[in-house]
Amino acid sequence: MSPAYQIVDHAYDVVVVGAGGSGLRATMGAAEQGLRTACITKVFPTRSHTVAAQGGIAASLGNMGPDHWTWHMYDTVKGSDWLGDQDAIEYLCREAPAAVYELEHAGVPFSRTPEGRIYQRAFGGMMQNMGAGPPAQRTCAAADRTGHAMLHALYQQSLRFKSEFFIEYFALDLIMEGGECRGVIALCLEDGSVHRFRSHAVVLATGGYGRAYYTATSAHTCTGDGNAMALRAGLPLQDMEFVQFHPTGIYGAGVLITEGARGEGGYLTNSEGERFMERYAPSAKDLASRDVVSRSMAMEIREGRGVGKDKDHIHLHLNHLEASVLAERLPGITETGKVFAGVDLTRQPLPVLPTVHYNMGGIPTNYHGEAVTLKDGDPDSVVPGLFAVGEAACVSVHGANRLGSNSLIDLVVFGRAAGLRLGELIKPGTAQPTPPKAAGELALERLDRFRFASGGSPTAAIRERMQRTMQSDCAVFRTEATLSEGVAKIDSVYREMEDIRTTDRSLIWNTDLIETLELDNLLAQAVVTMHSAANRKESRGGHMHEDYPERDDANWMKHTIAWFEGWGGKGGGVRIDYRPVHDYTLSDEIEYIKPKARVY
Ligand code: FUM
Repeated sequence: MSPAYQIVDHAYDVVVVGAGGSGLRATMGAAEQGLRTACITKVFPTRSHTVAAQGGIAASLGNMGPDHWTWHMYDTVKGSDWLGDQDAIEYLCREAPAAVYELEHAGVPFSRTPEGRIYQRAFGGMMQNMGAGPPAQRTCAAADRTGHAMLHALYQQSLRFKSEFFIEYFALDLIMEGGECRGVIALCLEDGSVHRFRSHAVVLATGGYGRAYYTATSAHTCTGDGNAMALRAGLPLQDMEFVQFHPTGIYGAGVLITEGARGEGGYLTNSEGERFMERYAPSAKDLASRDVVSRSMAMEIREGRGVGKDKDHIHLHLNHLEASVLAERLPGITETGKVFAGVDLTRQPLPVLPTVHYNMGGIPTNYHGEAVTLKDGDPDSVVPGLFAVGEAACVSVHGANRLGSNSLIDLVVFGRAAGLRLGELIKPGTAQPTPPKAAGELALERLDRFRFASGGSPTAAIRERMQRTMQSDCAVFRTEATLSEGVAKIDSVYREMEDIRTTDRSLIWNTDLIETLELDNLLAQAVVTMHSAANRKESRGGHMHEDYPERDDANWMKHTIAWFEGWGGKGGGVRIDYRPVHDYTLSDEIEYIKPKARVY
């Protein structure tokens, strides 16, 4: 280990990296099982990106009309465009109601019906009667600040069970030995000390990598650090080509306007004042699934019917709603509209544009949250000691397209599942594995390489080239031409990392260094995403390939598995393989839902 660094050693049963909804639920769950649990987070827990989740959390409570978990399952499978694993989807939808009641008891201040039940609103792609309709009001809401409320409740619960928090610690790398995970190395942002955590298990709950794109609803912290750590550990990521564009980011600013706005009766119009979603999705209209609505908006703009002087965006109308609906159910976006677009929602339409919002892809896991890889012909081979939950994971319940409000439920259902599995696998108080002698060497070599980098390209310049490449060549619509140009461009941006310049040599509160480490993480994922997209010769969910406009189940109903092999400036170097979609359920209460044409 480099003598230049002060190393602080720690031993825990479980280390969770990330303190958003899934990280906190896993932390709480592991601690509840009597396991000594540490949670490492680069921001204060209640500032994690879950705080930005607005519209709500899906569960078939049936408070506003008939509902059933099998209907929720049907919608999720259809929303996933049949790329989701049906065992995991069954687990998600069946466990969802209990997970919401648990949050209620933990103190989440859900909005209420006049009878005092949890209020539920309509969200895209959520229907009654196995897709037949009418729409199901399934999304449980705390006004339009549901994620914020959840984070506060889950943080308090984690403290209640005596888990320990390492706040403003930046995780650098996994400690791996013989294919098993034995801990994690992290940098304390406050004093520059390096911390080596050894543990029986590490849970990566580090969220998505939306910041690989130029405009995203994601916070600047969403750099997919855990995904990149997995890649550096020689593990693959799954289905990275599936990037979700949320239909309603504020034009220019990218800030999220919840789908709940359309759930409460909002609608989209083009420059002719036409409610164009009636043409694209005659039944669900503005509440079709996100990939469908985003594509329809992009088509309108492409065909010259965008609004504004450059005809490059769309209008969202809420001005016909009762003022009390905006005040009670959508107070957050009422303020956001004013601040970021200068629009009074009670009187004017809001300018919106499809905006990068969510990564369906991530670290492949089973429904217990255990990381899996394709090894020796086994597509479900567990990586001992490594778990992933939340947006960092690809379990895969969202497949090729996630339904709105299925992310918050994913966080708590699989965060809880990981906690339960950890309780089965680890006996509290057993000695933690001794880390290999060289544990952390590679992480510190990488730290040194970027800390003392003195090339000609500032971090921000390389980051902008990456973001613009992803935005233009791996967008809502993709073609053979944009993807092959994108592969060449993103590989070449990756090679620029060899020439990076970091200006500040200190370790303490060095934002330049942290941004460089985050950029390195983002770039590896951007490269994997572009290569995975270029390889998939069909259209499915969020991957709309105009040269292959149809879904091709015979050849492409399979998960992409991609390893990054381009380290050290080689650029590109992505190895791609495929693993089968789980076409079975867990119980005999529901049969495998067979693929069919996806219309809304
Ligand atoms: O539109 C929203 O409120 C976002 C929710 C989600 O992505 O699940």
